[in-house]
Amino acid sequence: SRAGRVEIFEVGPRDGLQNESRVLPVETRIAMIRDLAAAGLRTVEAGSFVSPRNLPQMAGTAEVLAGLSGLTRPSFSGESISRSTSDGTQGGDLEIDPPNPINLPVLVPNARGFADALAAKARHIAVFAAASESFSRRNINRGIEESLAEYRPIVAGALAAGLKVRGYVSCVLGCPYEGHVPVSAAVSVATALASMGCQEISLGDTIGVGTPDAARAMTAAVASEIGMQRVAVHFHDTYGQALANVLACLELGVTVVDSSVAGLGGCPYAPGASGNLATEDLVYMLEGLGVETGVDLDRVAAVGRTVCAALGAAPRSRTGQALAAK
Ligand code: HMG
Ligand code: MG
Repeated sequence: SRAGRVEIFEVGPRDGLQNESRVLPVETRIAMIRDLAAAGLRTVEAGSFVSPRNLPQMAGTAEVLAGLSGLTRPSFSGESISRSTSDGTQGGDLEIDPPNPINLPVLVPNARGFADALAAKARHIAVFAAASESFSRRNINRGIEESLAEYRPIVAGALAAGLKVRGYVSCVLGCPYEGHVPVSAAVSVATALASMGCQEISLGDTIGVGTPDAARAMTAAVASEIGMQRVAVHFHDTYGQALANVLACLELGVTVVDSSVAGLGGCPYAPGASGNLATEDLVYMLEGLGVETGVDLDRVAAVGRTVCAALGAAPRSRTGQALAAK
């Protein structure tokens, strides 16, 4: 059954920007992330520690993190705020709400990326594997098993250092090189990532080919192995199915949904893949369903307009366009 509150995992500054031809400078990316946090997003993927030759858009991720140290976001009504003070007494009305730290996950593809992430004081990392062998090789130059073997010590090291760890599985509903991907492949990679310790597994429809029944069946199969509370869904909107797929998965009880402001995004290793589900569209739907997100729709739409202007890109969020036309 549907949760009363959904956590939006904003991927715009990473998945959104990695596929844009215009490379945004570090200061612009810092401002984008600050603005997203101010709009109420508590998890904003901040970049990737990958090869700058492959992805120049993500170069300078360490500087982005440095520019955001100590970033917090406002608290919103409905959030449980602990008002007890350090000496154990209850705070009074005059006490200012404690600031809420923001999660700034970064992608880590290998040991080198992990070392760089630690040096940059990242507190939250994401490793990324795929349910398709061909995509895995094109994306990270490693096969599935090889990548999982490389991630195991990284995840263990991250957990030992107190970091949060997410694991992505790409191509869960189809592959740009292999076409059909069996549910069993998505389940097996998701289970491997969960058993090495990834606290959350994001199921990625990298090329946006999935439709609701397929999305629901795959998500249910993964959840039956690792538990629904560890599942996040990550839909690209290439075929206009992302929101329908999210709704199908919400009915299963999914509580974490990835999206990208202004619908930016794609994967450079997935030809033809277009943007992620737009955060504005997701927030609009969840508001309509009475599901709480803590995100201010107008503010996030304003961030989308600013980022599109910086990129010289057309906005892809239908909700964003509708709000801009009002
Ligand atoms: P490789 O070529 O196998 O690595 O790349 P290598 O160890 O042979 O090294 C080659 C060069 O890269 C060397 O430099 C290394 O130093 C350097 P050179 O000596 O030639 O000058 N290098 C690095 N530099 C910086 N950071 C590093 C690093 N590692 C090696 N961490 C690698 C392997 C994974 C690095 C490469 O293939 C790569 O960068 N791939 C990019 C993958 C990527 O970011 N893809 C997009 C994100 S995944 C996605 O979008 C899907 C998702 O959204 C979910 C969904 O939608 O499905 C998450
Ligand atoms: Mg993606």
